[in-house]
Amino acid sequence: MKKVKSSSSSSNAFSCCSRHFLLQILYIGINLLLNVTNANGFNPLIQLPSSGLYGNISETVVLNIDDFGAKADGINDDTEILRHVWKMACSSSSPTKIVIPAGNSYRVKPTNFAGPCQSKVTLRVSGILVAPQDPDVWKGLNVHKWLYFHGVKHLTVEGSGTINGMGQEWWARSCKTNKTNPCTHAPTAITFHKCKNLKVRNVTLVNSQQMHMAFTHCMHVAVSHLTVIAPADSPNTDGIHISASTRVELKDSIIGTGDDCISIVSNSSHIRIKNIICGPGHGISIGSLGKYNSYAAVEDVIVDGAVIFNTENGVRIKTWQGGSGFARKIRFQNVWMQNVSNPVIIDQYYCDSSKPCLNQTSAVKIDSISFRDIKGTSATQEAIILSCSDSYPCTRLYLENIQLISLSGITKSCCWQAYGTSSGLIYPPSCIESCETIVQENNISIPISLQNDNYAFI
Ligand SMILES: *[C@@H]1O[C@H](CO)[C@@H](O)[C@H](O)[C@H]1NC(C)=O
Ligand SMILES: *[C@@H]1O[C@H](CO)[C@@H](O)[C@H](O)[C@H]1NC(C)=O
Ligand SMILES: *[C@@H]1O[C@H](CO)[C@@H](O)[C@H](O)[C@H]1NC(C)=O
Ligand SMILES: *[C@@H]1O[C@H](CO)[C@@H](O)[C@H](O)[C@H]1NC(C)=O
Ligand SMILES: *[C@@H]1O[C@H](CO)[C@@H](O)[C@H](O)[C@H]1NC(C)=O
Ligand SMILES: *[C@@H]1O[C@H](CO)[C@@H](O)[C@H](O)[C@H]1NC(C)=O
Ligand SMILES: *[C@@H]1O[C@H](CO)[C@@H](O)[C@H](O)[C@H]1NC(C)=O
Repeated sequence: MKKVKSSSSSSNAFSCCSRHFLLQILYIGINLLLNVTNANGFNPLIQLPSSGLYGNISETVVLNIDDFGAKADGINDDTEILRHVWKMACSSSSPTKIVIPAGNSYRVKPTNFAGPCQSKVTLRVSGILVAPQDPDVWKGLNVHKWLYFHGVKHLTVEGSGTINGMGQEWWARSCKTNKTNPCTHAPTAITFHKCKNLKVRNVTLVNSQQMHMAFTHCMHVAVSHLTVIAPADSPNTDGIHISASTRVELKDSIIGTGDDCISIVSNSSHIRIKNIICGPGHGISIGSLGKYNSYAAVEDVIVDGAVIFNTENGVRIKTWQGGSGFARKIRFQNVWMQNVSNPVIIDQYYCDSSKPCLNQTSAVKIDSISFRDIKGTSATQEAIILSCSDSYPCTRLYLENIQLISLSGITKSCCWQAYGTSSGLIYPPSCIESCETIVQENNISIPISLQNDNYAFI
């Protein structure tokens, strides 16, 4: 069974080259301006070889799904073959690499990939994985899932191929697209649930049914060189969704979609986001938190280095009235905004429902949030909105070196129950109120270590 075979990396059928290229130029240009990148510059298509963290590559068993009879035509179903190969890989005592070879397309129905596995597993998607385009295939199945990995440890998912959710028919049936449709759920293209020591790199996700990639109850996750492409008007198609997870690092990625480029919710901590291009979409969001009076605890998040363009929001924290818990120790820095409607926004009155939300006295408490070195253009006058809860005002907000101008002229900031301080040049001028709370910038620069299981901190 041992066989080492390197897949050729011929180009796939998906063409997004010109947009990709433009984004890279934009990114490189902005990086030079902001000086947020490392000496190597940024190129999402160039990667250093893996460090060998996951074992001796020459002993890796390679399972090419074509060798197990995959149809590889994108029309006939290859689900059973992929399930079979996953089971083999997952029960193998040596490290295993599953190869979806380049040049072909593989149609895969909703599938559970269960762990833990006996050994390290790499899933190399060089070709195209494509979802059934008819939502009716999900009848009787869990509508939240397409490719669902749970309980996996030491898994690597890598490119250079494409994972296509074929979301068009789902979007057409969404109540956000057409108010006469009933509101239903749609699948997340790839979900990792209860995962540990996961790497995702160099993967392209397009047109997911709903969210593109979600991590729930995961720890020690490293994502890099990811590309997400979906239309600006595709409903709820978040790029990366992080929920109840800790120690997640996401960097060097390009996300253009119809909802949040990145959303971080529920009980998540120690999240590091670096060098992201986001647009179109709804920006980088913490939340929404506290829906249906729920408890949420998000802390220790750093977003460092992002270009956000043509989006509804830039960097945002959104909470529903009536929730509890907190969002604290969060820092957004080195962000370039271009044509962003709400570049800097805290919204504790978030209400994304058809009925108006009632005023409530409880709220998710917001504390120790900093916005530093955020520059560019706002598509609206209100470039800074800090709208906090009446009963739990925001405390220890910190603004430093903000320059947000609008094409039409002046910008302004709007505050409600927002306390904290600022330094450096702030335009529009800060409206934060200082008060007796001890104002100090949050200090949360703890180095990330993916190998260290002892992640107790704070
Ligand atoms: C990897 O395996 C090969 C062949 O089994 C062996 O010669 C080599 O020393 C191993 N390398 C490491 C780093 O373990
Ligand atoms: C990353 O993906 C690109 C295509 O998107 C491919 O050309 C390149 O070889 C991939 N790199 C690695 C290290 O897999
Ligand atoms: C919305 O759906 C209804 C019923 O399916 C259809 O008649 C109507 O044309 C749709 N509207 C739009 C704008 O697509
Ligand atoms: C978050 O933590 C609280 C308290 O530990 C728990 O009740 C809640 O279910 C958690 N939420 C999620 C989504 O894990
Ligand atoms: C600004 O962004 C909006 C979407 O938020 C987009 O419709 C519009 O075309 C953009 N304008 C420019 C000049 O790119
Ligand atoms: C909620 O409070 C705001 C401001 O105090 C008020 O204008 C609004 O009418 C209230 N809404 C409801 C539904 O009570
Ligand atoms: C930040 O934390 C580190 C390590 O805990 C400490 O050494 C440093 O003095 C702190 N810096 C500030 C400004 O509080």
